[in-house]
Amino acid sequence: MDLKNSTILITGGTSGIGLEFVRQLTELGAEVIVTGRNRDTLNNVKRRFPKIHIFQSDVSKPEDIKRLYNNVTRQFPGLNVMINNAGKCG
Ligand SMILES: NC(=O)c1ccc[n+]([C@@H]2O[C@H](COP(=O)([O-])OP(=O)(O)OC[C@H]3O[C@@H](n4cnc5c(N)ncnc54)[C@H](OP(=O)(O)O)[C@@H]3O)[C@@H](O)[C@H]2O)c1
Repeated sequence: MDLKNSTILITGGTSGIGLEFVRQLTELGAEVIVTGRNRDTLNNVKRRFPKIHIFQSDVSKPEDIKRLYNNVTRQFPGLNVMINNAGKCG
């Protein structure tokens, strides 16, 4: 798969496994979109990886999912990979 030329949405990309995906995929040159619930944490990740795009969105809230879908499909019609990572262990 040509990740370098992919547009990749990572839910829960502000810590742990998701953040590591952000690091590695931005390093490859992919267009990376990151979600999470906490705006400050999202802004911190954006400062660290300035090329990413951030969206505040809670995967447990249907209205957030709908808003995210509408925004992302409008702004990134080339979106071709989704890493549905958000969640908690245990
Ligand atoms: N770590 C492990 O050993 C392990 C093992 C098996 C499976 N997993 C799975 O792998 C995924 C990541 O685990 P992790 O350990 O990297 O977790 P983590 O460090 O706690 O990171 C979770 C990420 O998801 C976000 N998040 C949590 N709830 C969310 C929600 N409702 N909507 C949107 N974003 C949300 C968090 O940001 P906010 O809190 O700001 O939203 C954060 O960015 C989880 O689904 C977990 O179940 C992990």
